[in-house]
Amino acid sequence: PKALILAGGFGTRLRPLTFSKPKPLVELLNKPMLMHQLEAISKLGVKKIVLAVSDIGETLQTFIKQFNQENETVEVIVSKEDYPLGTAGPIKLAEKHLKGDDPIFIVNSDIICEFPLKELLDFHVKKQSTVTILGFKVENPSRYGVIIPDKEGRVQRFVEKPQTFVGNLINTGVVVINSKVLELIPENKFCSLEREIYPQLVDKQCIFCFQKGSFWIDLGIPTDYIFGAQLYMNYLRNTNRDERNETLNKLQQKFLKSDIIENEMIEKETQQQQQQQQSNFKIIGNVIVPQKENSVKIGKGCILGPNVVIGPNVTIGEGCRIFNSTILENVTIGNHTLVEGSVVGWKSKIGNWVQIRNNSVLGLDVTVGDNCVLNSVSVCPNKSANKSIWEKTIVL
Ligand code: GDD
Ligand code: MG
Repeated sequence: PKALILAGGFGTRLRPLTFSKPKPLVELLNKPMLMHQLEAISKLGVKKIVLAVSDIGETLQTFIKQFNQENETVEVIVSKEDYPLGTAGPIKLAEKHLKGDDPIFIVNSDIICEFPLKELLDFHVKKQSTVTILGFKVENPSRYGVIIPDKEGRVQRFVEKPQTFVGNLINTGVVVINSKVLELIPENKFCSLEREIYPQLVDKQCIFCFQKGSFWIDLGIPTDYIFGAQLYMNYLRNTNRDERNETLNKLQQKFLKSDIIENEMIEKETQQQQQQQQSNFKIIGNVIVPQKENSVKIGKGCILGPNVVIGPNVTIGEGCRIFNSTILENVTIGNHTLVEGSVVGWKSKIGNWVQIRNNSVLGLDVTVGDNCVLNSVSVCPNKSANKSIWEKTIVL
């Protein structure tokens, strides 16, 4: 098969993080979101992956260069639009890379799931389908594309962002298409797969939906990003041990260098820490820290978890309490600080006795003064918060 990842758009809904990094490079579990898609697709033996972007900065370029250097069996090819072409337009633009008889995976870069790509492809071939969408049932479908299939999986209706309830099976943004779909897409023109192409195929009865997987989430807004990290950690813990170890080994060789600490390991680690750093902290449930030695410092009396991701070079003072949160690279946190259900952006400096809670998101290099409470607060990059804020606010 061939593959194209949709990685355009501006990621505005994931601000303030996306002020400083393109959305596909914002780390989920210490690894750029995009890496999750690249790894899943590479596993299938795809040789070239087209990355469709509407804007490419230096960080993304550097990332791709490094990826290509480190991976011999797969190559990422950038296809850049002069202006945003939507979700279908970029596929047409990359036609020269996608032509031929192979089915093509089209994957959104801002979602995380189990990526059952092999099963999706098998189903697609078996049904002699033209487009096969990986579907997933969600509680609130209004932000997504809703699929109404018949018993065989043949799609009877596709409604993008429905205003009224039509069903709760949604388009995960993971699909496989036949290359003849390229003929339906106009050249150099904004075109939406969901609004313009899928409805045509519904009429022709040649679009199918395949359902598999225990979790899926669109990471495009902060609350879902925070929840997505939890779902993904639980998934990793629940998949069988061998498979998980294999994934983690691979991750360690590459960007992540992290592990889910098992309880036995934690005890060991704690003992080591006690000896080495005179430190004694406690871990509850899933906590991810980089494996690289001495990269992370955790102070005495801290309680971390459940659902915590600690990035590389993070320093946490004494007696901190952190749960349901991601602490990104190079953050420093003082003593007796609480972080709950939040994201602390790269290089931020958090004081003593601070509380960061309830879906707060701090951008790059934010400073929070001692004793401040930030409750549902977004802080833009390079800004400081020196007094408590109790209501949903954006600090500009
Ligand atoms: N290259 C390129 N150019 N990529 C784009 C563009 C563009 O102009 N616009 C959006 N994308 C990429 C985004 O980076 C993202 O990975 C994907 O296309 C989908 O765009 P979003 O803006 O995130 O769409 P959405 O989340 O509102 O809806 C889409 O995803 C849902 C699942 O998360 C639709 O496909 C829905 O049907 C689907 O349910
Ligand atoms: Mg999205």
